Amino acid sequence: MEKIICCLLLCAVLLVNNLVESRRVSSSRRVSSRYGDASLATCSSDEECIIHNECDEVNQMTKKGRFTYEEEAYLRTKLCKFYRRVHHFCCKKQKVSIRLPQAPDCGLYFSDRIYSTSEDTYIDQYPWTAMIMYSKPGNRIESHCGGSLITERHVLTAAHCYSKVPKNWKLLHVRLGEWDRRSNPDCMEFINEVVCNDPYVDVPVKKVIEHPNYKKYSLNQHNDIALLELEYNVKFTTYVRPICLPIDPRIGQMNFTSHSVEVSGFQLNEKYANSSLTKKVYYLNVVDHDRCRQDIYTGSKAMVSNSQICAGIEEEKEFCNPDSGGSLMKEGIYPTSKFPHYQLIGIQSYGPERCATQYNPGVYTLVSQYMDWIVENIN
Ligand SMILES: *[C@@H]1O[C@H](CO)[C@@H](O)[C@H](O)[C@H]1NC(C)=O
Ligand SMILES: *[C@@H]1O[C@H](CO)[C@@H](O)[C@H](O)[C@H]1NC(C)=O
Repeated sequence: MEKIICCLLLCAVLLVNNLVESRRVSSSRRVSSRYGDASLATCSSDEECIIHNECDEVNQMTKKGRFTYEEEAYLRTKLCKFYRRVHHFCCKKQKVSIRLPQAPDCGLYFSDRIYSTSEDTYIDQYPWTAMIMYSKPGNRIESHCGGSLITERHVLTAAHCYSKVPKNWKLLHVRLGEWDRRSNPDCMEFINEVVCNDPYVDVPVKKVIEHPNYKKYSLNQHNDIALLELEYNVKFTTYVRPICLPIDPRIGQMNFTSHSVEVSGFQLNEKYANSSLTKKVYYLNVVDHDRCRQDIYTGSKAMVSNSQICAGIEEEKEFCNPDSGGSLMKEGIYPTSKFPHYQLIGIQSYGPERCATQYNPGVYTLVSQYMDWIVENIN
């Protein structure tokens, strides 16, 4: 008896459902198009109603020239708008693919000023410098690492800036467009003129993608690289612009030994909150790889790999604390563009506690070795 009641109830439910269903169909707008008579579909939440030639799925079908009967029937169920003879279909939401910018859309700053030799950067220099901000106990928000803006949505940094910081710190946002930490916006006097930047922007970090082969407890710190995906696209301005990445293998094969390279930032690191008040730049030389591996770092038992590059300042000068995770870069004319621009060569990974010299250089993650991983993960 119970079974029968149950069944009757179920039947009633199904019947009502069917009625609702047919009412919905009949009340929706019907159109006549080349797909025959069809009622306009309501797209599901993972779909959007877009013009036919912007839908990958439809493009796949039309590429062959002629639809099969099944394809046509399928498209009829996906037709969501027919307006001025243009078909729109419910189409799986497509990721807006983000591409790495190519020179001259990256690696440039527009200043025409002649730069001094001091350690202070100009207000618009290295506009890809990112400060990584952490929330810390006691409601403090402080920056302990640097990074490089590489797309409107991504900052590249060291993996240790994410996984080796104290457990009670939280990586919150990146600060872009900063030059002087004491003011906002900042102004600099240049001969007889005063130049001011825009206020800095703090962009929340949506996702941290750490290299899967990074081992935080390893002495070697191989694969010390991470991508920060931002919550939204940043607007490129004079003070917020990306650096170029060595996506062309010819740049990856270049031998930078003895070349002069630059590091810039606020001397941020995970250990000390003693960072510089203004953005600084230092000029380093790339140290021969074998020398770095065999003569210098064997003593510390760290194994310097081919995916790392060493750099230090000339003898006698001292270079103290570049930004952890910050950019090691080189300006030049590369095979990819006839205009001089900056390429990101390395990411600061580890080094001597205080000052990196030619004889005691810092170790950087060699970015060209990670291009496949970067391209794969920015989308
Ligand atoms: C790079 O150039 C230096 C000399 O500038 C040379 O000693 C070294 O062997 C070169 N390395 C490679 C991998 O070609
Ligand atoms: C941090 O700054 C203080 C004073 O400003 C100084 O005494 C200390 O040596 C600095 N620490 C480092 C690691 O630079």
